[in-house]
Amino acid sequence: MRGKGLKEKLKSLLSESEAAELKSSLEIIGDLAVIRLPPGLKPLGGRLAEAIMQVHGNVKAVFSQASPVEGEFRLRRLQHLAGESRTETVHREHGCLFKADIARTYFSPRLQYERIRVARLVQPGETVVNMFAGVGCFSIVIARKAKPAKVYSVDLNPQAYRYMLENILLNRLIGVVKPVLGDAKTVVEKLKGQADRVLMPLPAKAREYLPYALQALKPQGGWIHYYDFVQAAGRGEALTEAFKLIPRSLEGFRLKAAFGRVVRSVGPRWYQIVLDVEARPSEAV
Ligand SMILES: C[S@@+](CC[C@H](N)C(=O)[O-])C[C@H]1O[C@@H](n2cnc3c(N)ncnc32)[C@H](O)[C@@H]1O
Repeated sequence: MRGKGLKEKLKSLLSESEAAELKSSLEIIGDLAVIRLPPGLKPLGGRLAEAIMQVHGNVKAVFSQASPVEGEFRLRRLQHLAGESRTETVHREHGCLFKADIARTYFSPRLQYERIRVARLVQPGETVVNMFAGVGCFSIVIARKAKPAKVYSVDLNPQAYRYMLENILLNRLIGVVKPVLGDAKTVVEKLKGQADRVLMPLPAKAREYLPYALQALKPQGGWIHYYDFVQAAGRGEALTEAFKLIPRSLEGFRLKAAFGRVVRSVGPRWYQIVLDVEARPSEAV
């Protein structure tokens, strides 16, 4: 209903296809909104932002995305369009609260389904390592919805780590979610052989970090949730390409991608995919 309201509201400012494009780019994070404005629509930014705030009464500020998600910390530059001038907010998802600064930490509401999907796979008592945890979203949803023994939650961005600490408190998960500031490569050195399950929600480093993810697994093996980008003509082809990414064996484990899905389209012929990879020791047949 809300989305329809926005399209109606934008009728006088935009063509139908422009309104549809804007609507699909709209992300609401807590009480903040982010849109992507095609160059031709930049002069209308302020008016479009006001329209968004009128339709979504809970939105207190609107930003336009001024750069792609980039750099080691996966941040995007934001340009303020309307409303309050702050970038910190609290987002509610799956009954969990995530505090984040959308200019200084990575946060995407578009991973909402992925977070609950993975949480539903976690078995009671598991030790989970989340190598690229951001402000702790996957870790917190897992700790809330499953019954893991521990979720080691690693991030390199000191700001993300700071919010992760706050989010652990906010969601009363002290002792279950273990925050770690550092490079996942180095952290995994200390967690060698401990994990039943490893999450790798950073497609840009997936191939480089897969051997480290495997080192974190227990000797009897476990599961890796592997996120990557693939180039393909369509979603079906993207999945076919995705399954080719996983070697048959690595680091003393036999690997098998048991499940895959396209998480989202991230550009023309460019897709983010996830594979659930089962890893078992090579000698066990
Ligand atoms: C795509 S975001 C992860 C999002 C998060 N899982 C979520 O659900 O919001 C990737 C994160 O990896 C972190 N990162 C980048 N390189 C890293 C590394 N070498 N070790 C640990 N964290 C890293 C970034 O700071 C960023 O917060």
